[in-house]
Amino acid sequence: MSPDPSSTTSEIIERDRRHFIHPYQVFDTYLVDDVLPIERGAGAQLVDTEGRRYIDAVGGMWCTNIGLGRDEMADAIAAQVRELAYANPFTDMTNVPAGLLCEKLAALAPGDLNHVFLSTGGSTAVDAAYRMIQFYQYAKGTPEKRHVISRVDAYHGTTYASVSIGGKPGDRVPGFNYVDDTIHHLSSPNFYRYGDGRTEQEFADDLVAEFRAKIDELGADHIAAFFAEPIMGSGGVIMPPADYLRRMWQLCRDNDIVYVSDEVVTGFGRLGEWFASESVFGIQPDIITSAKGLTSGYLPLGATIVSDRIYDTIAEPGHDRYLAVGYTYSGHPVSCAAALKNIEIIEREGLLEHVRQIGPYFQQQLRTLADLPMVGEVRGSQLMACVVFVEDKATKRNYPESLDVGKLVANACEPRGLIVRPMVHLNVMSPPLVIDRDDVDHIVATLREAIIEVRASLEAS
Ligand SMILES: Cc1ncc(COP(=O)(O)O)c(C=O)c1O
Repeated sequence: MSPDPSSTTSEIIERDRRHFIHPYQVFDTYLVDDVLPIERGAGAQLVDTEGRRYIDAVGGMWCTNIGLGRDEMADAIAAQVRELAYANPFTDMTNVPAGLLCEKLAALAPGDLNHVFLSTGGSTAVDAAYRMIQFYQYAKGTPEKRHVISRVDAYHGTTYASVSIGGKPGDRVPGFNYVDDTIHHLSSPNFYRYGDGRTEQEFADDLVAEFRAKIDELGADHIAAFFAEPIMGSGGVIMPPADYLRRMWQLCRDNDIVYVSDEVVTGFGRLGEWFASESVFGIQPDIITSAKGLTSGYLPLGATIVSDRIYDTIAEPGHDRYLAVGYTYSGHPVSCAAALKNIEIIEREGLLEHVRQIGPYFQQQLRTLADLPMVGEVRGSQLMACVVFVEDKATKRNYPESLDVGKLVANACEPRGLIVRPMVHLNVMSPPLVIDRDDVDHIVATLREAIIEVRASLEAS
């Protein structure tokens, strides 16, 4: 039910335009383009304020993993609100769902990742990892290990530290400051865009050599951590070349560099596993950051899951140290209850197995779009995917950025009942884990129609 059934759609849009500052709002276009007001959702479906239905192939913002509109989630959340809506989490108080959730996350996370710091989302999970690593290096007696290595095209969030660790060129805008003296970015592992005639193996060799050279340049005794998403999400679903992540991880181990695997997107089933680092890519990180699918977007929550080694060093008795990182809503009981119910649903319904079945079909069907003249590449794994648009397939020449070709295709999908996420030359998808073959067929057929229509209109203009 709409919270304001008396408003018309245009009133809702106008009110929003006047008062709601959106994340990453583009001010000029926001003045002319109408937002799409969504009223309801169930499973992978959204319904707008005019009653039009869409398949949400973006899964909200990579997050509605178990699907929307679950009564069971609503009941679990309501029950926790009635029982205990909030309790102070600082130092000497706790609540039952927070402890249960941390225990469960320790069981689901690989290796000795047994200690969990809870926050409010992905950015704060990454921020907490960054600060915990500083504290760890200090506690270990190596405070000069201050430098952080990340990669071009990485996305790690939007706090001051996490956006600085991120490396998407579009996130560096004039008028903002970034930490730039101690955070360094290696090349993007985007083979399609930057392979430049090399084999994938040669490309990976060069990326690893670049990291080695950076370690030599800064000195291993100055490098604290390496941050990496297993598959870069917001950078454009960039698949790591074969064995690249394992080799980067090995370099971290050899040089006492903390490896942070940012699984805010790849965790909780998107790749058919609770976490992808070890199960899919064969690496054992020192820290995993998680959010999004952790509650399937029902409530905000972030988790920074750290190894015994890091925890034991920070918490070593006899030093009277304390962790000067904490949020009012760390371990919020209602968010934790939502996460526990979310995990229960994923387990009970076998959603990880479902992803391992539907994921390959999704990828295979999407790849049929590669025969279209403006589709340069279709890439991804399981329920993370991206279609790359180019003006010229042979040379991989992009359309002018000002054309915003990804948006043109997304706009053509919308009236056909499909939401995809435009990112300049790309359309990105991360549908809820519950999608079925009919949904996949609808997504692919709609994209095909939309791409053909956009190409025809570009050729006509
Ligand atoms: C890999 C990754 N890390 C961190 C974040 C930030 O998460 P949040 O938006 O919940 O702060 C995102 C968001 O898309 C992400 O994709």
